[in-house]
Amino acid sequence: MIVCKSPSEIERMRAANALVADVLAELGAMVAPGVTTKDLDAAAERRVRERGAEPAFKGYRGYPATLCASVNEEVVHGIPSARRLVEGDIVSLDMGVKLNGFFGDSAITVAVGDVSDDVRRLLRVTEEALERGIGQAQAGGRISDIGHAIQQHVEGQGFSVVREFVGHGIGASLHEEPQIANYGEPGRGPRLAEGMVLAIEPMVNMGRPAVKVLADGWTAVTRDGSLSAHFEHTVAVTKSGPLVLTRAASRVR
Ligand code: MF3
Ligand code: CO
Repeated sequence: MIVCKSPSEIERMRAANALVADVLAELGAMVAPGVTTKDLDAAAERRVRERGAEPAFKGYRGYPATLCASVNEEVVHGIPSARRLVEGDIVSLDMGVKLNGFFGDSAITVAVGDVSDDVRRLLRVTEEALERGIGQAQAGGRISDIGHAIQQHVEGQGFSVVREFVGHGIGASLHEEPQIANYGEPGRGPRLAEGMVLAIEPMVNMGRPAVKVLADGWTAVTRDGSLSAHFEHTVAVTKSGPLVLTRAASRVR
């Protein structure tokens, strides 16, 4: 069952989502050589609690932190640690929070200092793929139109889409129906309707699409060791089109 939200519920979801956007922007600006992923996690948790919200991931199926911080070949669900970022790394920062009874969820991938043109292109294409997926979040369309648009863009640029993890509905729960694959044929799955709120989150590998989970039970890495990027937004399907709830405050439209 897909839970649709009323316009006033979507308004109430803004707080959690704006908080996620603000904190991720702040963490992105903190990323620099020498910073540990634990430093980023501590800053994230402090900010979230200061604003009266709760981390959504901490304690979720035993996950130990506020942030997922996935470096280089780590795809998603990297656990913050004493690892220091070094120039040339990329780091994906994924965070969810609960505020006013609703969840928000978003992710960005950030370069640490200077990276090669190819790496810059990986980040750009992944973010563009997310934007193309968001463009399909229109009432009357189908769920799989989103993943199709993402896959077309990513593969057209010579990168690959991770199959093992998907986006999801979001609202009073972090993970709601429907699941949103980042690949597939268009025109399949449930019809998109006004009031659906979707966390769309492409994960894109520079090399092959296959991933595996490390012995910590969380960290997903590319099997071929290639770099991986992840961008995510929480998006409401409205009468007037997709409304991105996790854009940084000045950019909500
Ligand atoms: N953005 C991911 C998701 O929505 C992160 C979940 S991490 C977990 O599924 F720790 F909560 F599992
Ligand atoms: Co998510």
